[in-house]
Amino acid sequence: MNSSPLERFPGVFGVGGLLIFLVALSVSLVLPLIAIFGDAEDTATVEDLAANPEGSGFADLAEMFPEIFSDIYPEGASPANYADALERGRDLYIENACFQCHTQNVRPFETGYYGAAANPREQNNDLMHPSLIGFRRVGPDLSRYGGTRETQWVVNYLYDPTALVSEAVAMPAYPWFYDEGCDLVVNPDALCVPNEDGIAIIAYLQWLGDYQPIETLEEDTEGETQ
Ligand code: HEC
Repeated sequence: MNSSPLERFPGVFGVGGLLIFLVALSVSLVLPLIAIFGDAEDTATVEDLAANPEGSGFADLAEMFPEIFSDIYPEGASPANYADALERGRDLYIENACFQCHTQNVRPFETGYYGAAANPREQNNDLMHPSLIGFRRVGPDLSRYGGTRETQWVVNYLYDPTALVSEAVAMPAYPWFYDEGCDLVVNPDALCVPNEDGIAIIAYLQWLGDYQPIETLEEDTEGETQ
């Protein structure tokens, strides 16, 4: 009788199958869990990151919208409030699935667009960990977006992207980050007024890329001169 190898050596195939299953389990479940909950001693906390709100997008927003800002944050642009806003901003970025279209990961062959390739140390902080590397890059990489635009521009952009960049048709508008409408087509000089969520996500976007551990920068510079 001509039986298949599977029938002749069921034990070998059984053990092989189990091994493959264990490898798959560790790659897709155990390793990510270690990455998230593993040794995180040197990770910068949100409080560390928010220790100095001066010059941040959050401080800009406090200046631009004093009334609404003081309703939400009576103590002003303090480090504790900045930390809250940054955390909320990251949550909103996840809830609104911004990562479906934006990466936070610069690959080594595209440094011409976005600067040095992503460095794990640069992302070793609570706001970028676990890393939101994203799925597909429909829009630009945002891992170092902060400060590339004026805060005022970002405020209006999220309300109505095509009003500012006519070809930005793939970037959705996010009117729920604002309590009132704002017609940028009729009045391009208008300043849309964000609500609490709007302030948080804009503060987060303007923060992205702010954390650059000194040794990361030194190493990058060394690499360039060699
Ligand atoms: C369906 C895909 C998609 C989603 C979802 C998306 N974006 Fe975008 N985004 C784009 C595209 C495409 C662009 C580039 C458009 C352009 O040319 O200005 C862009 C551009 C941007 C820019 C850069 C604008 C500039 O030129 O400075 C920012 C910031 C941004 N998006 C933030 C967000 C945030 C925050 C979210 C989630 C709340 C989000 N995006 C969700 C597609 C998307």
